Amino acid sequence: MHIVVVMDPPSTVIVDEDTSFALMLEAQERGHRVAHCQRHDLHVVGNRIHATVRQARLQRVAGEAVVLGEPEQVSLHDVDAVLIRTDPPFDSDYLWCTLLLERVKDDTLVVNDPHGLRLANEKLYACYFPELMPRTLITADKAKIKQFLDEVGGRAVIKPLDGAGGEGVLFLQSGDLNVNAIIELRTHHGQRLAMIQEFLPAVSAGDKRIILLGGEPLGAILRVPQKGDVRSNIHVGGSVAAAEVTAEDRRIAETLAPRLQSDGLHFVGLDVIGGKLTEVNVTSPTGIQQMSRLDGENYCGRVLDWLQARVG
Ligand SMILES: Nc1ncnc2c1ncn2[C@@H]1O[C@H](COP(=O)(O)OP(=O)(O)O)[C@@H](O)[C@H]1O
Ligand SMILES: [Mg+2]
Repeated sequence: MHIVVVMDPPSTVIVDEDTSFALMLEAQERGHRVAHCQRHDLHVVGNRIHATVRQARLQRVAGEAVVLGEPEQVSLHDVDAVLIRTDPPFDSDYLWCTLLLERVKDDTLVVNDPHGLRLANEKLYACYFPELMPRTLITADKAKIKQFLDEVGGRAVIKPLDGAGGEGVLFLQSGDLNVNAIIELRTHHGQRLAMIQEFLPAVSAGDKRIILLGGEPLGAILRVPQKGDVRSNIHVGGSVAAAEVTAEDRRIAETLAPRLQSDGLHFVGLDVIGGKLTEVNVTSPTGIQQMSRLDGENYCGRVLDWLQARVG
């Protein structure tokens, strides 16, 4: 296969953590051609979407994990698969990238589907399944937030709808002298929607990341917050432990699968705390390297098997 990965610059790759790198390395080991480009390398020529790509050589060397060749022009209609794996935020550059790749998908497998990526805000998508979620409110209204905080017993988290990696996730406790200030900060003084969610004490045992491939659980890891933090994300110091995919996790996956499939969201990371779904990560879900190490399984191989089968 000829695979193009639209992602952030190679300098952002952490060699033992990055999921895009791990998938590219597996592809290289299978003899596929792997090229890298960034969003601004896409261009429109008439009715066709082209990209300035660079062949990528992958190696497990810190700081030099992705070594790029000379720029080449390719028509993305003529390659076998395009992976969109840039990190959030969902900004104009991201929107334009999905709008261009949308035009390629009749000819080339694009993962995830650009249309699905536009539909699926990572926080709001989970709200299609309120029965799976902790009690949650989306609002910019301070009075509503404070009322909700009381209703859920005085402890909650407030999160930006466009956050990732634990960025901007704040703990709210009624009676805390910072409650008003935190709400004003997070809602830009009532001008920006935020997600307020009942605090799940089970977070201290870990936030489970379940990776779904084609709607099926591939595997899971637990991310455990460091002492003195509610945020489990690896990028803010969460530690990683092995985790089973339980029957409950399978039920969550089965509930989401039809919608994920119809939105073309094939490679997805669910966040589940104490059995409750909190987030559906679709832009650049990660964790596959840690999961593979902890379980002694080659999960990247399973993803490549899936891609090869789809491309045919
Ligand atoms: N309802 C909650 N109760 C307790 N902790 C939470 C809750 N929601 C999120 N967290 C903590 O904050 C972290 C980040 O939240 P999440 O919703 O996954 O956003 P993101 O990962 O995009 O920043 C989680 O990994 C978890 O540690
Ligand atoms: Mg998360």
